[in-house]
Amino acid sequence: MIFSAYKMMKQKENLYHAPSGVGVGRSIKVSSPATIANLVCGFDVLGMALNDPQDIMQVTLSDKPGISIKHIDNYNLPTIVEENVAGVSLLSLIQELDENIGFAIIIDKQIKPGSGLGSSAASAAGVVVAANHLLGNPFAKEDLVRFAMAGEKLASGVKHADNISPCIYGGVTLVRSIFPLDIISLPAPPMYVTVVHPQIEVKTSDAREILRKEVLLKDAIKQWGNIAGLVAGFMKNDYGLISRSLEDVIIEPVRSMLIPGFDQVKKKSTDAGALGGGISGSGPSIFMLCEKENIARKVEQIMKEVYDETGLAYYTYVTTINNEGIVLRQAQDDLRQAQDRL
Ligand code: HSE
Repeated sequence: MIFSAYKMMKQKENLYHAPSGVGVGRSIKVSSPATIANLVCGFDVLGMALNDPQDIMQVTLSDKPGISIKHIDNYNLPTIVEENVAGVSLLSLIQELDENIGFAIIIDKQIKPGSGLGSSAASAAGVVVAANHLLGNPFAKEDLVRFAMAGEKLASGVKHADNISPCIYGGVTLVRSIFPLDIISLPAPPMYVTVVHPQIEVKTSDAREILRKEVLLKDAIKQWGNIAGLVAGFMKNDYGLISRSLEDVIIEPVRSMLIPGFDQVKKKSTDAGALGGGISGSGPSIFMLCEKENIARKVEQIMKEVYDETGLAYYTYVTTINNEGIVLRQAQDDLRQAQDRL
């Protein structure tokens, strides 16, 4: 019997809902969205899921122990389980089950690693959501965040959940605490998100290393005023308050030095009517939030003009908030079962 100890524990807690059948041999495909961590002022605590870009992953459950990883993209990411963010996240899930099971993972990465768009979180979260589904959903969303943080630790050196939480929960999330986990889904008014991804790589671990370890009290006061203002703005659908609160006096002044064109993009975009924006995660992508689509398109044009001048290659996206998070794309097992019945 698979995962019996966990099942018994959860049955005791009344949390476990038995699956209709053990899922060995079953496959599932999921889309795992890009995310914007920090949302300017909320370093390591705020995040938002995007509709574009998204990774596609296929996960198959096996009764043979072990994990195999295959990439069908061109990023040449590690396939050794302990060196792969999806691999270590899945390992931490398997460790909480008492049976010998294994998984085969196929990853089609559309979110470029090192873009600041939550590429590692999409892999880490996508695989544990898919595995949980194949096991009959024994784990709660918070458990999945906990497992996926093993991937973030591998990628950046520290556990943080500001990309993983919106990836799994969808929408905008606040991570009030990671030990213990306390994740709050926030409502947000409709917004367009324009992103430019200059084709330079900024490693999250490097972007964290350069940060000052101490903060002046006057800066802390400004920052927590802005975080509270941004959360209140989302909850009250107050675009003016959102706009005023999109200010970071602690992280952005240091990290923006790594991103050519940053100040120009930000100034010209807000002059053109964007609500505000800043570095996406640890960069180098820059995002701007807009109330109206026509302004979001204007901002995209501005980003293109700025980056055409720098001579750097870049991608742009105009997208919206993804309220679903990771979704199951194709339950191949269900298809197969349906075919069997024909
Ligand atoms: N909050 C993290 C950072 C997100 O800014 O370093 C990047 O993974």
